Amino acid sequence: MTHAASPALSQDELKTLVGQAALDYVNEGDIVGVGTGSTVNRFIDALAGIKSRIRGAVSSSEASTARLAALGIAVFDANAVDELPVYIDGADEIDGHGHMVKGGGAALTREKIVAALACRFVCIADESKLVPVLGRFPLPVEVIPMAAHRIARQFAALGGHAALRHKDGAPLVTDNGQHILDVAGLSISDPLAFESQVNQWPGVVTVGVFAHQKASVCLLGTAQGVRTLRF
Ligand code: 5RP
Repeated sequence: MTHAASPALSQDELKTLVGQAALDYVNEGDIVGVGTGSTVNRFIDALAGIKSRIRGAVSSSEASTARLAALGIAVFDANAVDELPVYIDGADEIDGHGHMVKGGGAALTREKIVAALACRFVCIADESKLVPVLGRFPLPVEVIPMAAHRIARQFAALGGHAALRHKDGAPLVTDNGQHILDVAGLSISDPLAFESQVNQWPGVVTVGVFAHQKASVCLLGTAQGVRTLRF
């Protein structure tokens, strides 16, 4: 299937294009891993068009679960499956090796759990997300609230500046009841080592670097159409 674009397409239209293109990675009878965010919302809308041909989805957030359910797509608990053929999700950044920064929508922990269940991670993104080195987008890190200050100081020692994410005037509370630090000023040249290092800090629930759970494929929305990157 070809998914051509015209130069006039907006960022929203590019999201729709890659959301539809991701259907090529869904097979009859699948339970599909579904991410979170505005690009994934376009994918969920497209998935609704073939819902009678799939078994359902495992969702990475309350928001995606609500959208899937509203469209009549069955949502399975992650504990009900041994593995998933495919996980489809957006990214805040992706590099030329398929390493990503995720968590702009605060769903990074469940996203990493569902990604770990999947044989293949298909990232859907517009071309503004492709970067040479991760770190331009402030890195989301889900933390246990009592550890936030100490973790912020550990990032400062690496040259980062961590800020507690707020929503409606109060610290944002994730689907898991925790907080998010957004860390600006990092340049993540070795994403695998960086992810492993931060994972060991007490109180870190999930770091938004997806190097151990990197993309296998990225469908990138460009003015010329969908560009497929394989890693
Ligand atoms: C949510 C995520 C999203 O995938 C990421 O923020 C990209 O979102 P969008 O498609 O809205 O740009 O990681 O936690």
